Amino acid sequence: MSKPVWIKHASQLVTMASEHKGPRTKVAMSELSIIEDGSIWLENGVIQAIGTTEELKKRYNNRITEAEIIEAVGKLVTPGLIDPHTHVAYGGSREHEFEMRLEGATYMDIMNAGGGIHATSRMTREATEEEIFDQTEKRLNSFLTHGVTTIEGKSGYGLNMETELKQLRVMQRLQIEHPIDIVPTFMGAHAVPVEFKGKEDQYVDLIVNEMLPQVAEEKLAQFNDVFCEVGVFTPEQSKRILVAGRNLGLTPKIHADEIEPYGGAELAAEVGAISAEHLLKASDTGIAAMAKKGVIACLLPATALYLRETAARGRAMIDAGVPVAISTDCNPGSSPTTSMPLVMNLACISMKLTPAESLCAATYNAACAIKMEDKIGSLEIGKQADIVLWNVPNYQQLQYLFGVNHVNSVWKKGVKVVG
Ligand code: NIG
Ligand code: FE
Repeated sequence: MSKPVWIKHASQLVTMASEHKGPRTKVAMSELSIIEDGSIWLENGVIQAIGTTEELKKRYNNRITEAEIIEAVGKLVTPGLIDPHTHVAYGGSREHEFEMRLEGATYMDIMNAGGGIHATSRMTREATEEEIFDQTEKRLNSFLTHGVTTIEGKSGYGLNMETELKQLRVMQRLQIEHPIDIVPTFMGAHAVPVEFKGKEDQYVDLIVNEMLPQVAEEKLAQFNDVFCEVGVFTPEQSKRILVAGRNLGLTPKIHADEIEPYGGAELAAEVGAISAEHLLKASDTGIAAMAKKGVIACLLPATALYLRETAARGRAMIDAGVPVAISTDCNPGSSPTTSMPLVMNLACISMKLTPAESLCAATYNAACAIKMEDKIGSLEIGKQADIVLWNVPNYQQLQYLFGVNHVNSVWKKGVKVVG
């Protein structure tokens, strides 16, 4: 068992604690519950006490020699960041597509010509489990150094039973062997594999009749995601896949209205999805439907920037009452980044979230998008001790000094893993 940790004299300790349970909307997204001159005691992997340094001194001064003491003067403390949408486990890389896009090719042009998701699918099928494990582990290390302590991870580069399961197994192993927690999502419906071109419904049959039951049987995923987009899966096909998954206990998520408005936001509300992702082109009706059903908008401003698209209407979504989370979308094509701090910056710059809302979107609401809010996403007694100490004195500077990694140290389940 590791030593207790006492972080004290933090200039700001942003706890994100709130009376409000479940995904936060509107003004609740700005409830940061800040403690000045803050102090937190971590022991046995959980938060044992939290308050001002004066308050904790009364209780813990007699145990000072037992603990690792962290003097956090002039520093900010927040919950570990949570990335609720990644495609982290894959083989190969696609830097040549970056150059193709700079020369004018679009994301969909490249995919339709057999590149994009199809290219990564080929490389992921060819790679051994060990190779994917090693590549993915490096990306997880990078997430950690950027203050991320939990991620969601999707399959979706196998597009056949064998390789979808290979990706999910890599994530299952990393969940045990790496400090980051990975919450797995099955995304066999990420693209129609080239061998099913012209036989799209047969691929949907394969997902519904064979892949989903196998994934559920082996308990390899908690969520089921579909790329509902013109030229990929129609809303009808998406609905079939999401309902089939739901019947097996997999909660729906949807890549919706990214490239064209296609009714994805509306479908998310209809099938009871926990979240809808991207939403660059979501309609006003779709946004209203999501607000009504409490579907979380998982917004990916780094992807929009990388594809040189206008970002999702994050400000309008919050004002309409949609709970908003943000994520890197870490993947080899449209967003090869592991930097949640950059995503927080971009949420402010390109979607007009306030620094407070952006932090909520990367912590508490992100936890809700992967159904983990009972354990993580805020600093409260009894919750997992996933904590970041930042080299800035307040949360506003974290958002304002952009494109820089301000992480000082990171604790995962009370153990120092960075710094
Ligand atoms: O969320 N939009 C679809 N899927 C991923 C991209 C995957 C890739 O290009 O490899 C996304 O952006
Ligand atoms: Fe994605």
